[in-house]
Amino acid sequence: MDKGIFITFEGIEGSGKTTQIKLLGERLKKQGLKVLTTYEPGDTDVGQKIRNILLEPEININPLCELILYFADRVQHVNEKIKPYLETGFIVICDRFTDSTVAYQGYARGVSIDIIKELNRILFNEFKPDLTILLDLPVIIGLKRNQQINKTDRFELEDLAFHDRVREGYLKLAEIEPERFFILDATKSQIELAEEIYKTIKLRFHL
Ligand code: TMP
Repeated sequence: MDKGIFITFEGIEGSGKTTQIKLLGERLKKQGLKVLTTYEPGDTDVGQKIRNILLEPEININPLCELILYFADRVQHVNEKIKPYLETGFIVICDRFTDSTVAYQGYARGVSIDIIKELNRILFNEFKPDLTILLDLPVIIGLKRNQQINKTDRFELEDLAFHDRVREGYLKLAEIEPERFFILDATKSQIELAEEIYKTIKLRFHL
């Protein structure tokens, strides 16, 4: 393999992305493939500091400032990690990417989607995931799962309507680019989901 594969996972809070990424990464590594699992925001030294600002529960951030901080994290992440690994043939599996920005800052927060798209074009040009796995489930189920693990960052504290807009936003994005998105019913068991994801990736990328 001379060019890597870029796979992203998207979904609302509590959709099980982290678990599925871990399972998929381990399985592909066992097959002898080169795999990097990573996440946004925060998986660089600079990104970790940006993440702390973004997720602090008690902080009041202007929506455009929030948007730019997510993009700042992404610029560092893409250039420091994602692209270098892809260039050396790795399968890069990333927990959230630009679709999160469109869903959260665009559809849910109300920032102009044209501004988000334009910033994305300026910063990343045509660069986008080869495949995006969308773990879809009702908001109420996702938030309950996260309450059980006491996860209470700035976004978990948003109301149900906000999270509903995030979910709807994701579904619209998937409708616009059906060839890039693979939507899964995330109320299924972890084992079932892991199997479906693995099979899809093997088939799609001839692994
Ligand atoms: P997580 O690590 O729990 O997924 O936390 C990241 C939070 O940041 C999550 O609530 C979604 C939010 N987020 C955005 O609002 N926009 C983005 O572009 C990204 C990557 C995440």
